[in-house]
Amino acid sequence: MLLDNHGRKINYLRLAVTDRCNLRCFYCMPEDGLNWLSRKELMTYEEMLRSCSLLIKMGVEKIRITGGEPFVRKDIMQLLTSISELDGLQELSLTTNGVLTAPYVAELKRIGVRSVNLSLDTLDANRFLAITRRDEFANVMECLERLLDNDMEVKINTVVMADKNTQDIIPLVELTKELPVSVRFIEEMPFNGDGHSYSGIQWDHIRILDEIKNRYPAIQKIPDPLYSTAYNYHIPGHKGSIGIIAAYSRTFCGTCNRIRITPQGILKNCLYDNGVLNIKDLIRSGAGNTQIEDKLRAVFNKREKNGWDAEHNRVINPDVHESMATIGG
Ligand code: GTP
Ligand code: 5AD
Ligand code: SF4
Repeated sequence: MLLDNHGRKINYLRLAVTDRCNLRCFYCMPEDGLNWLSRKELMTYEEMLRSCSLLIKMGVEKIRITGGEPFVRKDIMQLLTSISELDGLQELSLTTNGVLTAPYVAELKRIGVRSVNLSLDTLDANRFLAITRRDEFANVMECLERLLDNDMEVKINTVVMADKNTQDIIPLVELTKELPVSVRFIEEMPFNGDGHSYSGIQWDHIRILDEIKNRYPAIQKIPDPLYSTAYNYHIPGHKGSIGIIAAYSRTFCGTCNRIRITPQGILKNCLYDNGVLNIKDLIRSGAGNTQIEDKLRAVFNKREKNGWDAEHNRVINPDVHESMATIGG
């Protein structure tokens, strides 16, 4: 078991495989995209595999592949298949926008992926276009259908944005009536690639829940799985469930079990830190496994107790131009 200096178990790696994306969700990146990383700056699949393998040996049990959009990286199924074959890994899952994913769902299932988190902020094609600046709604809906046809566990991630998609909250809740999905409403965080344009949080978890309760007073709290980012709810008679992720106004620090690797191979102890170890450079310098493991242990022994504190600096300093796509969510 891998423990940090505060006795918290580290068992979950979020591996971001690319910063690129085929959508331009305005809460994540500017319309022109980002200064994409060059091929040399990106971690290779070989480097990712070696990092995953080492971290699994140290105690990581679950790996979530994120991006950017994982499926815009060439041969992503190759990486997923290799990771799925690593000894000791208990769970491999991914977060995707669903634009290119549908044709791969059956193969994902075959290699052992049981659960997929799908980003979907609206059920209206026009609003989808306004939010993502791309006309891909039909492909995403096809992906959802394919995931359900293949009996995948599906979580829909919906970022709630004032004046953009709050009219979608109830229709998305209604999806859970007939579909066995978890629809998770997420507070918008200031990672849109341009700190100055983040307008602050207007829809926090309390307001989101109030909106749903208004329409569905019978909604019930259900137990949250261990380490869940969401507070979970169920409406009697519905097949699916509702989650609310207080990503911005609450902190998960007390039970934080996760580490991140960015597309350029930087290990983050916390969503809010700037990186604590460049694994890619370490590997490229010829370091052996023992040396890498020692360095990893050293940084896991210096984890902040409450990384969210750093967030206060971010609020004060809008010059921060981080995008969710370079962090991996
Ligand atoms: P599960 O493994 O299914 O629990 O997924 P998850 O909720 O950890 O991951 P997902 O990629 O679906 O992310 C859902 C939302 O939670 C995104 O907006 C993430 O940015 C956010 N999120 C994930 N981890 C953290 C975290 O440690 N802190 C905060 N504040 N938000 C997080
Ligand atoms: N705030 C909250 N969630 C975000 N995501 C992307 N950008 C933001 C943001 N600024 C979510 C996406 C995706 C997940 C990994 O992160 O909806 O599903
Ligand atoms: Fe792409 Fe996801 Fe960012 Fe949207 S939120 S631009 S889908 S990486």
